[in-house]
Amino acid sequence: MRDSILITTILIVFSISIMGWVIYPHEKAKQPETMPLVPMMQQLLIDMQQVDRGIYTEEFSLIKQGAGRISDHPTMTSEDKKLVKKKLGTEMKQFVEYDMVVHHHADSMRMAAIQKDMTEVLRHYRIVQQGCVDCHSNFRESISSARTGD
Ligand code: HEC
Repeated sequence: MRDSILITTILIVFSISIMGWVIYPHEKAKQPETMPLVPMMQQLLIDMQQVDRGIYTEEFSLIKQGAGRISDHPTMTSEDKKLVKKKLGTEMKQFVEYDMVVHHHADSMRMAAIQKDMTEVLRHYRIVQQGCVDCHSNFRESISSARTGD
């Protein structure tokens, strides 16, 4: 009797876990995508141009998509990360801050596009754009020449 209760319990637990597995298949561990810095930047420009097109044609879906890609942009490859860290030293903190501004406000721009709120789209757009340019004015040249060895 005790044995059959035990076996039934095991069977029930077993089938519940199988069901769970079927209903909620294990998600693949999400590997953050990485990309070398220069092609990543070129993609960001394409995404900003798509957002521009969305703004001027009032196609909020274009804004939403472009802004979403900016906020989820891939991270640098580990080689690039090493290069940037070595070049910037303690200034790395500032570099990361500009990146965070871009991520954060691109996401807010995406949400404003979902709400079809052009004023908010533009408000966040300007902050994103300023973030791109601030990072470039401070770090672009030194990182670019560290890469090319000039
Ligand atoms: C945290 C710093 C940082 C932010 C933020 C940033 N960039 Fe850059 N960007 C760089 C650096 C560094 C380079 C130079 C890379 C090199 O030449 O090695 C660069 C280069 C570029 C280039 C030139 C690529 C080429 O072909 O040489 C473009 C275009 C560009 N960025 C677009 C953008 C756009 C658009 C944004 C905002 C949506 C942005 N970047 C935000 C750091 C940044």
